Amino acid sequence: MDKLIVNGPCTLTGEVRVSSAKNATLPILVATLLCPYPVNFETIPALMDVGTIIKLLQSLGVKLTVEGPTTTLDATELANQHADYALVKTMRASVLVLGPLLARYGQASVSLPGGCAIGARPVDIHLMGMEKLGAEIHIENGYIKARAKKLKGAVITLPFPSVGATENLMMAAVLAEGVTVIENAAMEPEIDDLADFLIAQGVRIEGAGTSRITIHGVELKDLKPSAKPYRVIGDRIEAATFIIAAIMTGSDVKVSGLNPKHLSFVLETLTKMGAGLDVGPDFVHVRKSPRLKGVAIDTAPYPGFPTDVQAQMMALMSVVDGNSIVTETIFENRFMHVPEMGRMGAKITLKGKSALIEGVESLSGAPVMCTDLRASAALILCALKAEGQTEIQRVYHLDRGYEKIDEKLTHLGATIRRVKA
Ligand code: UD1
Repeated sequence: MDKLIVNGPCTLTGEVRVSSAKNATLPILVATLLCPYPVNFETIPALMDVGTIIKLLQSLGVKLTVEGPTTTLDATELANQHADYALVKTMRASVLVLGPLLARYGQASVSLPGGCAIGARPVDIHLMGMEKLGAEIHIENGYIKARAKKLKGAVITLPFPSVGATENLMMAAVLAEGVTVIENAAMEPEIDDLADFLIAQGVRIEGAGTSRITIHGVELKDLKPSAKPYRVIGDRIEAATFIIAAIMTGSDVKVSGLNPKHLSFVLETLTKMGAGLDVGPDFVHVRKSPRLKGVAIDTAPYPGFPTDVQAQMMALMSVVDGNSIVTETIFENRFMHVPEMGRMGAKITLKGKSALIEGVESLSGAPVMCTDLRASAALILCALKAEGQTEIQRVYHLDRGYEKIDEKLTHLGATIRRVKA
């Protein structure tokens, strides 16, 4: 297992460009299951999670070709509609194949994704929505078995604006008969990007990015390839991670390749804490900031504070003046970075869904262990700030969702190296 060695404290300088968003790439690659023709993409990020979804698509019969910067997925003909446990268990987003398979083939057998480190994360909302569209669903031997001769458009009101359920249902609705309306839909930018991809295939979708999405069902033959390769949006979570890295280390760094509107809440919070940020059309320039002050945040569905930036924000809060409070409202077990950060000198007390962070003067390097994707990013941030050497183990968590983060940080001047297992 690879590990990262960081010698802090580091000062960063220069510009870093974020990769295409992991959380938009995954559903959009899955959406090619709806398309009876090859689909071209630009700039698919080299991430472990993307590799996992491609393996799953290949197991269903999708053909992959890569030529220079263009990746092509061809789902003209699929071999089967069975998503195996061995592939689904490693990544929850795999359950997104349910909607398109069911809509196109009238049946699907998809392993239940199971629990995961940051919480129970059931798929009941996905299944409720599929049933509303007319599917018959049974759970058998750990698999979701779904059937429907032809899905029928419906009004589906989600009990919670689940990102994955909204995406799964949008894809299923594309080949359903008639119109589907998703009420209380998730509004994340990644949903908007999935809608843009589907619209580029000839589907009519209104309201993506709002809480009411309308999808006009089409026949398979009505879907048409778009002339241009699809380009996925920049990764707002990766961008937030670099922005916080620059602030924590008192650095001057330009983070580019994102739509800063996707990070409005995060940028407002950082500004309130005292960060100096210049925001452009596709970049955020972090000016060398003095020490920031504490703040209270609650994670919430978009446009609220993203749970995927909570751990990184806590890393920053551990070295500001005064106290901060973080309340995690999306996942029930997303504080696993707290004991690891404590090993580096952070002062954090947990009480139920909330964490009280007392700002300390500085952190000190220590051996630490990654527990999940964003927790890993938070440990890197602490390591960049800390005095001395930090050895970060289990970086495979990080490789799931950050493309070449060690190389990008080295380019910015950090002293970080990967030790291959
Ligand atoms: C997506 C993101 C993930 C992010 C999360 C919340 C991807 C690949 N992953 O995950 O990075 O942290 O959104 O912004 O895009 N829930 C249910 N029943 C369901 C579905 C969800 O109870 O059927 C609960 C979950 O347990 C969780 C909450 O709803 O507590 C949010 O889940 P959801 O929005 O579905 O997140 P994901 O799509 O899994």
